[in-house]
Amino acid sequence: MTDETLTKDYRLSASARPQTDYADLNSAVKAVTSICPYRIANLANAAALLWENLRDINWAGFYMMEGGKLVLGPFQGKIACTEIEVGSGVCGTAVATDSTQLVEDVHCFSGHIACDSASNSEIVVPLRKCGTVIGVLDIDSPSFARFSEEDRTGLEEFARLLERAI
Ligand code: SME
Repeated sequence: MTDETLTKDYRLSASARPQTDYADLNSAVKAVTSICPYRIANLANAAALLWENLRDINWAGFYMMEGGKLVLGPFQGKIACTEIEVGSGVCGTAVATDSTQLVEDVHCFSGHIACDSASNSEIVVPLRKCGTVIGVLDIDSPSFARFSEEDRTGLEEFARLLERAI
């Protein structure tokens, strides 16, 4: 990783909020991860980028497939459950259905796993390698219906860029 990449402030300008500028965010994840060969380092920096650049969130990070279940990976936010079965909760449902879960009210999602009682909405995007789900990107918000279709599109692109580096 170059000095310039390490010292650059990848937080978006205040004018870019409250809507996330996904073009900027996704250029940042590409720049930061494409020069680093380490999977955990790239997931950790990706979690930091999400945490710094999405407003109104209380958790951002990853669960990765290990031994047939999801295991907690790099994240920002409060401590979280360490294992999730495929098909359980929002994360396990994203794996089982191989599809993004955009949940406006987690209290209405059957089987939702509450790691932080402050969470009210959530988005989970599958990460894939060669067509197989290898993990998920998970973001929680204390606001109801925090995540829009624009967030879905932006975060799915974020996931596609990150997949090349993990
Ligand atoms: N809510 C998730 C569990 C992980 S935490 O949100 C960090 C779920 O239902 O799968």
